[in-house]
Amino acid sequence: MHAPLKDKTIALGVTGGIAAYKSVELLRLLTKAGARVRVIMTANAEWFVGPGTFQALSGLPVCTSVFEAGDASIRHIDWAKETDLAVIAPATANTIGKLANGIADDALTTFMLAVTAPVVICPAMNTNMYEHPAVQRNLDILQGYGHHIVEPDAGSLACGTVGPGRLATPENILEELAAVLTPKDLKGRTVLLTAGPTREAIDPVRFVSNPSSGKMGFALARAAVRRGARVILVAGPVDLPDPLHAEVHRVASAAEMAACVQAHAAEAGLVIKTAAVADYRPVQTAEHKIKKTEDRLSVEFERTIDILKTLGQQKTDRVLVGFAAETQQLRDNARKKLEAKNLDMIVANRIGEAGSGFEADTNKVTLLYRDGREERLPVMAKDALAHELLNRIAPLRSGT
Ligand code: CTP
Repeated sequence: MHAPLKDKTIALGVTGGIAAYKSVELLRLLTKAGARVRVIMTANAEWFVGPGTFQALSGLPVCTSVFEAGDASIRHIDWAKETDLAVIAPATANTIGKLANGIADDALTTFMLAVTAPVVICPAMNTNMYEHPAVQRNLDILQGYGHHIVEPDAGSLACGTVGPGRLATPENILEELAAVLTPKDLKGRTVLLTAGPTREAIDPVRFVSNPSSGKMGFALARAAVRRGARVILVAGPVDLPDPLHAEVHRVASAAEMAACVQAHAAEAGLVIKTAAVADYRPVQTAEHKIKKTEDRLSVEFERTIDILKTLGQQKTDRVLVGFAAETQQLRDNARKKLEAKNLDMIVANRIGEAGSGFEADTNKVTLLYRDGREERLPVMAKDALAHELLNRIAPLRSGT
């Protein structure tokens, strides 16, 4: 499920907005994701980007008119039949208006009437145009047809206005397209995830932490959103953007993470704790920066709350999944944690090994289940691993 665009035939409609140049980047991302992309342009789009650019990057002919010279077949009908997903980016107010009203007066709008695959519309226009009741009504109509609308970003636009209307980023559009093609096996479920490290303050400018990057937890959040879950992500300090459509809470210390998890746990039927929570924190946080007046400095530490263990003690029908980062006796230590924290599954990974652990983009894990089963997975990119984990976590039932 992690590569839903691979080998899919995508129709990319490009209409005449200044953001048309961004559809070149979207095309590049789509082909990189393994999709075969056919581009259909309106006449106004050609004013911004030439068909040659799209043709060179897609490796396929670009459709610009309903009746193309020397083309005996009815291309828009043939293409419509073979399309797995159609996206229009950017979609102008004019094209949105035509689609909402069934008008087919060029190659793109004609094609769109014939297509039966899922449709994604990415509006981009001046803020006043976007907010005009006619455009909003037309977008509502398209939504009513079951089309997906990717809302534009707010920001300063090429026309000098500041407000919503800027085309969503190609990366976010790609994520939306992947989501449309992913089966929604987590629909109706709420997943609470934690990710990243925590920081325990020694003084206002110093803290104790660990190198967890949060990549595994964020990959799981993106994967769960794609699969239809409501996702609540409690993240320690990490340098990663909010996953689309997740409810993200940024925290710093173990105590803040514990409070945030406790506040949201009741909403979640599934909790996955990838965070590398500090086990100890300084007993006292100095109010002011500690000056280097002494040769030696001792800081006394006390235990933090074990967030997962607390959830395990309160366990109801909530499924609990933990992570165990170990440098030795991986399986034995992980099994002990699974039992001590009353978990349904634990994902054990050896840290300090190449291609696995905290900062890597890949991970190699062993899964241990409550019923004694174990499963070793090969080294995988964290995005792919996230889906492999969800494939196994989704059917788990709480073993209270
Ligand atoms: N965990 C937690 N709260 C803590 C410490 C850990 O919720 N204060 C969770 C982690 O998010 C992880 C699991 O418990 O899912 C195991 O974390 P790990 O750091 O591997 O183990 P610890 O229980 O801290 O044990 P140790 O440090 O002794 O290995």
